[in-house]
Amino acid sequence: MKKMIDLITAEVTDAFTACGYDSVYGRATLSNRPDLCEFQCNGAMAAAKQYKKAPFLIADEVAAKLAENPMFSMAESVKPGFLNLKIEESFLADYVAGMQEDDGRFGCEKTAHPKTILIDYGGPNVAKPLHVGHLRSAIIGESVKRIGRFAGHNMIGDVHLGDWGLQMGLIITELKTRRPGLVYFDEAYAGEYPEDAPFTIAELEEIYPTASKKSKEDEAYKEAAMQATFELQQGRRGYKALLAHILDVSVNDLKRNYENLAVSFELWKGESDAQPYIPDMVQKMKEDGFAYLSDGALVVDVKEDTDTKEIPPCMILKSDGASLYNTTDLATIVWRMRDYHPDEIIYVVDKRQELYFTQVFRCARKTGLVGADTRLTFLGFGTMNGRDGKPFKTREGGVMRLEHLVDGINEEMLKKIMENRKTKENLDIGEEEAGETARVIALAAIKYGDLSNQAGKDYIFDIERFTSFEGNTGPYILYTIVRIKSILGKYHGLGKDENGAVIGAAHSKSEKDLMLVLSQFNAVMETACEETAPHKVCAYIYDLSNAFNTFYHETKIMSEENECVQKSYIRLLTLTRSVLETCIDLLGFSAPERM
Ligand code: ARG
Repeated sequence: MKKMIDLITAEVTDAFTACGYDSVYGRATLSNRPDLCEFQCNGAMAAAKQYKKAPFLIADEVAAKLAENPMFSMAESVKPGFLNLKIEESFLADYVAGMQEDDGRFGCEKTAHPKTILIDYGGPNVAKPLHVGHLRSAIIGESVKRIGRFAGHNMIGDVHLGDWGLQMGLIITELKTRRPGLVYFDEAYAGEYPEDAPFTIAELEEIYPTASKKSKEDEAYKEAAMQATFELQQGRRGYKALLAHILDVSVNDLKRNYENLAVSFELWKGESDAQPYIPDMVQKMKEDGFAYLSDGALVVDVKEDTDTKEIPPCMILKSDGASLYNTTDLATIVWRMRDYHPDEIIYVVDKRQELYFTQVFRCARKTGLVGADTRLTFLGFGTMNGRDGKPFKTREGGVMRLEHLVDGINEEMLKKIMENRKTKENLDIGEEEAGETARVIALAAIKYGDLSNQAGKDYIFDIERFTSFEGNTGPYILYTIVRIKSILGKYHGLGKDENGAVIGAAHSKSEKDLMLVLSQFNAVMETACEETAPHKVCAYIYDLSNAFNTFYHETKIMSEENECVQKSYIRLLTLTRSVLETCIDLLGFSAPERM
C-alpha cells in the first residue's frame, strides 16, 4: 500500500499544479500542531519567493482547490501561508481497513531491492559468562535483524564468538596445573581424544577467573599461558581438542542464555574460524604493497586526506608475528565475502570500538577484501549505566552477570503480578503461570527499556521505571495488548462475531486519532529499517498504545447497542492488537495472555 503521507502529498501537489504552481511545493507532512490539523503543507511559503506573491494568496488558492477534494474534511489556509489539512473519516477508515486485509503486512510492502545483510552482534567470550555489556549488542542486533527481515532483506546473524586468544591459553594452563595426567597434555599421544569434555560449564566458569587472577600475580604462570596460546595457535593436537571441548561446553551454555533473551543466531562462528584465512590474506597484503613493517610490526596505512583527527595505521601482525583482534576481524571478512557475498555487514558493538572499526573498514576496503558494492556499517551503542550514572555494576561493584540481572528483574515482575491478582480475570493466576508471565514481562521491560533509547546514546538502566506498568515502558505496551485481548475474549465469549464486518468511518475524535496512528505503520517501518533504528518502532507503539487507551476510556465498546458499530470497533481493536504484536515481535519480545 502507498503510504498515507504520499497519498496526501500527491493530492496537494495536484492542487498546486492546477493553480499554476510548481509541483515541488506540494509536499505534505504530519502536523506539528495536532490540535489544529492532522497534516500540513508549508509549500506556499517557499512558492511565494518564486512567484513574488504573498504566501497566503497562494495558500488560499490551493486551499480552495483542496476543499473540492473528497479526501479532505478540512483544507484551510492560515496566515502567513500555511495549509492545514484534515482527512475525511471514510477515506481514513478505508485505508485502515485495507491494512487489515493485507494479511500480516498491514500495508507495508517488502523492499523492491532485497539485500543480503550479515549482522555481527553478540561477541560473547567463550568460557566467560555473559555480562551486561553483551546485553545491548544482543538486544539491538536481534531487533535490527528482525526489522530488516520484515522489510524483505536476507538477514544473517553471526554471534562472532571471542574464542581465540589468551583466555584459551589460561584455561589450558590451569587445567594442566590441576590435572597434568590428562591425555591432552601427553605430546606422544596419537590416539583419539575422549568425546566428553573433562569439565562442566560450572568448572569452566570457575577455571577461567582463577587462571586470569593467577596470571596477574605470577609472571611464570602468565608466560605458560601465553606459550599454551601460541602452541594452540600453531595447531598442537591436544590443545585443539581441548579448545573443541571448551567451545562445545560454552556454546551450549551461551545458546541457553540467548534463548532466554529470545535471541538467536544463524551462524555460530567465532574468531577461531577466521584463523585459516590469515596467512594468505597477509601474504596478499604484502604482495600488493599495502602492508609494510613499522617498528617490527606489519601495518597498513588507513589515514585519509580529509581526516580531521589522526587515524593510526591498522596493525596486521605484531612484531612477534602474532595476530591480533584486527587480524581476526579482517580475516572474518574474507570468509564472509567468500561464502555470502553480503551487500552489507553491520557490526553492533560498543561505540568505544568506533575508531578500531574505522581502521578495520578502511583497511578491508583499501586492500580489496570488500568491493564498492559491499557496505560496512558500524552500529555503535552507548553504555548501560546504573542509577548513579556509572556503568552498571553489582552491589559489590563487580561486573554484573547477565543471568543475575535478568533473574533480579524476573523477581521484581513476579512480585508485581502476585500483587495484581485482584481483578476478576487474574484471581486464579497460579504460581506457575505467574512465573512464566513474569519472565515474559521482564524481557519486555529490559528490551523496551534498552531499545526505546537511540542505540548510540548511554542510558540509565532504571529497574523501577522499566518495570512500571505505566509510562513509556515495555510492560505498559504489554498491558495495552492484554487489555485488547481481554475485550476481544469477552466479546467472543458472548458468542458474538464480527465476521464480514469492515472498519467503518470513525465516530469520535479518539477513534479517528487511533486510525491515524495505525495508518502510519508502513512509513514508520520503512524509516526504522533504513535508519537501523528500533527506537522508532518503540516510539510508534507508545503512540499507538496511548491512542488506543484514550479511545478505550472514551468509548463504550462492550455496551455499544448498534451491532454494526460494535463490529467495526472489534475490527479496529483486532487490527490494533495485530500491529502492536507485530511490532513487539520485531523488537524481540512477546505479550502474555493476561497480567
Ligand atoms: N568479543 C568482543 C568483546 O567482548 C566483541 C566482538 C565484537 N565483534 C567484532 N566483530 N569485533 O568485546
